[in-house]
Amino acid sequence: MDQALYDHLGGRDAITAVVGGLYSRLLDDEEIAPAFAGIDMTRLRHHMTLFLSAALGSEAVYAGRDMATAHAGLQITDEMFDRTVAHLVAVLESVHVAPELIAQVLATIAPLRSEIVHGAAV
Ligand code: HEM
Repeated sequence: MDQALYDHLGGRDAITAVVGGLYSRLLDDEEIAPAFAGIDMTRLRHHMTLFLSAALGSEAVYAGRDMATAHAGLQITDEMFDRTVAHLVAVLESVHVAPELIAQVLATIAPLRSEIVHGAAV
């Protein structure tokens, strides 16, 4: 992923704002919120900010767990994954990120589905 996408989105401050907006939507979504019960959200926001920054081409280093390990045991379904991605798109749209950049963000995240979704099979 090239640095251009991260810069286009507005760099670290923009990503921090997007992550804040994303988690407030996730916690307002009754299908999603239970997954976050008991989770330290300050730490999670920090990890997500670094993860997305690194995934979008910044030089930030993400040192958290890999996606399969981080989400193991949470019983995340395809529907929960889709809803989460839809919330992310809504946040990006709300800060007027261009559709072609949103498409690039989605292309970065889509391959993670198989690591994050565990259905009820744990
Ligand atoms: C859409 C793509 C997603 C990405 C890029 C993502 C990214 C991350 C990252 C970077 C972490 C931190 C890992 C760590 O602490 O080492 C994390 C943790 C977590 N994620 Fe996700 N996530 C995604 C989808 C989801 C979905 C769909 C859910 C549930 C509906 C979810 C629930 C959680 C929870 C509960 C944690 C905290 C786990 C813990 O601290 O034990 N994530 N995620």
